[in-house]
Amino acid sequence: MEKVQVFSPASVANVACGYDIFGFALNGIGDYLELQKRFDDQLVITEVEGATLPMAPEKNVATVAIKSLLQEIGSNQGFDIKIRKEVIPGSGLGSSASSSAGAVFAANSLLGSPLSKMELVKHAMEGEALASQKPHADNIAPALLGGFTVVRSCEPEVDIFNVSYPEELNVLIIFPQIEVKTAEAKRLLGDTVSLDKARIQWGNVAGLVAGLSTGDWELIGRSLEDVIAEPARKVLIPQYDSIKAMAMRSGAVGFNISGSGPSMFSLYREQKDLDQLKSEISDQYKALGVECIFHQSTINSEGTVVA
Ligand code: HSE
Repeated sequence: MEKVQVFSPASVANVACGYDIFGFALNGIGDYLELQKRFDDQLVITEVEGATLPMAPEKNVATVAIKSLLQEIGSNQGFDIKIRKEVIPGSGLGSSASSSAGAVFAANSLLGSPLSKMELVKHAMEGEALASQKPHADNIAPALLGGFTVVRSCEPEVDIFNVSYPEELNVLIIFPQIEVKTAEAKRLLGDTVSLDKARIQWGNVAGLVAGLSTGDWELIGRSLEDVIAEPARKVLIPQYDSIKAMAMRSGAVGFNISGSGPSMFSLYREQKDLDQLKSEISDQYKALGVECIFHQSTINSEGTVVA
């Protein structure tokens, strides 16, 4: 194979209580990457659609991730790379992870798939480290593997697993068009957590995993609580408390910030007509001069695929 096109989904990280460890992939939104083998060892980004990204290979998450993969397998294969972005950088929907995961998956495919998706995680994380200064895999894992993922550990070894979830689980993404930089949102959290908060968070983490895997909606709802990141970060998202209250009134099981924001996610037990809610939220943001984009889907169970 000389050329391949892949789709790599957008994702929601943290999922309330699982700061830097929980994530799930979304259906119907993601990045498309096309890689073609070159006759030399250069990594060349030939085209980017949908966003303005650095084209230099040492500054783009896709090429940094591919370089890490090539180093591990001892290859000097070069690639031409086209990137079509549907996941807007700074949206809180795993934009850099989507491109990094797609890039390593595509390069690995063209090289005869020497590594498994799980083995590709650490290379895609190099792209993530470039984007946010701290390597984390909570968007990379769902983007590559699909489903609901838990990053039990990143260092020294990557240890990631999937959690089953009720198939009817539906997600509404609410994306007000403002930018929040992950690195800045991380700084807001500081370095320490009190034991009282940690105890609550541990209970919620265990509760959410158990609730998802047994389909216990009451437990899922009670566990979608975050006492660490949400209180510190919601100030970055205009109208956060009011939007959350509206979403909960619309029948959501839970609501929280997607990754480091500004996108928010609202979870539902089934597909619902949410036009009324969307229009009320749009009106609130319009009054502030902010456009808002919505995306409604189920969880993507496949992750990155050849498209
Ligand atoms: N988990 C990261 C954070 C962002 O909340 O800062 C997404 O990877």
